[in-house]
Amino acid sequence: MNTTAALALSLPGTSGMWDFGDYPYALEPLTLPPPGVAWLPEEPPADDLRAACSALRDLAAAGDLGVAPAGEDELERLFWFRWITGHHISSLLWRLLAAALDRLGSPAADQAELSRVIPRYVRAYSAMLIYTGSSTQAIYNATIRPSMYRIHSTFSGTWSADFPAVRSLFRGRRVPPVTTAERAALTSEIELCHRIHLDVAAKLVTNGRSLLQHLVDNPAAHQPRVWSALFDHYFLTSRAPVSAHEVLSQLLRRCKAVAIDIASNGLYPAAAAYESSTPADPAAWAELTGDQELIDIVLGAAGLATGLIRP
Ligand code: HEM
Repeated sequence: MNTTAALALSLPGTSGMWDFGDYPYALEPLTLPPPGVAWLPEEPPADDLRAACSALRDLAAAGDLGVAPAGEDELERLFWFRWITGHHISSLLWRLLAAALDRLGSPAADQAELSRVIPRYVRAYSAMLIYTGSSTQAIYNATIRPSMYRIHSTFSGTWSADFPAVRSLFRGRRVPPVTTAERAALTSEIELCHRIHLDVAAKLVTNGRSLLQHLVDNPAAHQPRVWSALFDHYFLTSRAPVSAHEVLSQLLRRCKAVAIDIASNGLYPAAAAYESSTPADPAAWAELTGDQELIDIVLGAAGLATGLIRP
């Protein structure tokens, strides 16, 4: 493996400086195990993962994560970074959720703990929807949307190879067998997540909400395989038998970059010209859109994934 590829699979550095890609808001490719390959985090995850996550959380708590805020001329790069990297973290969260759902019901697993972890990953994905979709309408419609259209005229989130494993969870068809104590929390996180997806779509695309409401019920059954390959290529994702350590290292690298971005620019950067000076967030988002809340949710998910936090 060449040095660049190895770096992208390794733990982030221990300083609060930007160290993702070659410069602030640059990208890195994501390598995931093929979708059919069961992926289970190591039990317990390695000490160096926990240590890196703990160091990152300490940097965030001390206010030591930061770069110069993005200027107007950097906004397109910033929102492109959010679009791609936010989708990467979403895919990683879907894999973590799928692994947690697989372990629910296994006698060897701590059911109560898993049941508390699952709603928190769902919440982290909701936060990622908000972050990923925080672009101005103008940049979304001039840059992001056409880039998908150029790949395919019906490019769609349903093409993700990692989503089918969690689709029935997110469509709320059947609540997984979490403990009774967590059932209501999970149901309400799933509803919130759906609401947020609708609201993000509505904020960015004129008829986005109704497009999403008319989602075909079971697209996976008749999708050509080339669609998931197109989705992977667009989102700089390749498939290889990477280890659980490498998957979690890639998660930590991205969580650090996102935390630095939010700490430096806020969810809504000052230089961005939104339709209204501060975008009006739907009330349902209230608990997720404070900059500190977002950083806590993202780094909290990293803490759960690396075993640093046991809820
Ligand atoms: C912000 C990051 C976003 C992520 C991670 C994301 C992810 C997804 C996923 C996984 C699906 C498949 C759902 C399923 O099969 O049940 C989906 C579907 C869909 N999403 Fe999003 N989405 C995002 C933003 C948006 C935006 C901005 C719009 C604007 C219109 C949108 C509109 C749709 C629509 C219309 C569908 C239905 C499938 C289709 O016909 O294309 N999404 N999205």
